[in-house]
Parts: sequence; C-alpha cells; structure tokens
Amino acid sequence: MELVGLGSYIVNTSGCNDCHDSGPATQFASGGNPYFGQMKKINPKTYLGGGRVVAPVSGPPSPPIISRNLTPSTKTGLPEGDHTFPEFLEILRTGKDFDHLHPNCSLSVTTNCFPLVPPFDGDLLQIMPWPGLKDLTDHDSCAICEYLKAVPCIRGNYPGEPADRCQ
Ligand code: HEC
Repeated sequence: MELVGLGSYIVNTSGCNDCHDSGPATQFASGGNPYFGQMKKINPKTYLGGGRVVAPVSGPPSPPIISRNLTPSTKTGLPEGDHTFPEFLEILRTGKDFDHLHPNCSLSVTTNCFPLVPPFDGDLLQIMPWPGLKDLTDHDSCAICEYLKAVPCIRGNYPGEPADRCQ
C-alpha cells in the first residue's frame, strides 16, 4: 500500500482524532455522529487540529493536558507543529516533548509546570499513547508522518496558536 494511504488507514482506525480533534462537540459533522446511531462523518474543520482538553487541571501548578495540532503548517509543510520525520520518530518512540509546553517546576518555573513527583516528568508527553505507538515499525511511523503532511492545515484550539498558522 502506498505510504499516504497506509498512514490514513492507521490514523483513522487507531483513534488519533478522538483526542486530536478540538472536540468532543466538534468531532463529527452535523448529522454524522456514530454515538447517536448516525452514519459517521468526520468534521473536516476540526480534523486533527488539536486543542481538546484531554485531562483537566489536576491542581496548581500543573497545567491541563491538551492535545496538540497534528496538521502541517503551511509555512514549512512539516507535519504536526513543524517536526521533521526524525523528530516525529523520536516523539513516537520516547514521548519526548520538543516544545516543552509543560516543563518540570523549578525555582524560575512555577506555573504550568509539573512538580517533580513520580510518575510525572515534564519532559515527556502525558496521556499521549506513545508507549503503545513506540512499537510501530519505521515504515508504519513514516506512513503516519506522510499522511500528516498531506492533510489540510487547520488552526486548532491550542491556547496561543498563531492566527496565521495556515496562511
Ligand atoms: C488518548 C488521547 C490521544 C490519542 C488516542 C492520541 N494522542 Fe497524540 N497526543 C495526545 C495529547 C494529550 C498530546 C499532548 C500531550 C502533552 O501535552 O503532554 C499528544 C501529543 C502528540 C504528539 C506530539 C506533538 C508535538 O507537537 O510535539 C504527536 C506527534 C501525536 N500526539 C501523534 C498522535 C498520533 C499519530 C496518534 C494516533 C496514532 C495519536 N497522537 C493519538 C493525546 C492523544
């Protein structure tokens, strides 16, 4: 199977959009919600745009855990928030958060950070099912990456996302 097709198959059957849509209210197009017995129709306006609060704030100083935008940025054409394939592979294999959006707390970082209490490690993506995805082959991970380059750019709901992301 060609790579983009395989990537589409993996992404759309493994539930990436169940967390990476801005939803839950926006995940399905009007009249297309399978939970209501309707024929499934994904909402293309929010598909993989990110910004869904997957885990609300557990108490200060910890931030809520919000899904990231997986669509490519128009400026670079790179998928999921401007990461190259080697970075993407490292994210899937190790959960590394290159963007450091919720670092460990320290003397200088006191908000939106993780207190250093196991099992939390602010360098790693939380909730994101990378411990399972890490065992995908290079080939299948590459297919996902190619598909995420091919989907349309969407401005998601992640706080602070630039308004001109897709211009
Ligand atoms: C159970 C919910 C959930 C599912 C399912 C899920 N993700 Fe995620 N993902 C997240 C969350 C939440 C984050 C951000 C975590 C954080 O901030 O610590 C994330 C982060 C990511 C990142 C890092 C983005 C960046 O800019 O660094 C990538 C890449 C990613 N997910 C890809 C995928 C792919 C591909 C799939 C499907 C194969 C998938 N995710 C399925 C919740 C999920």
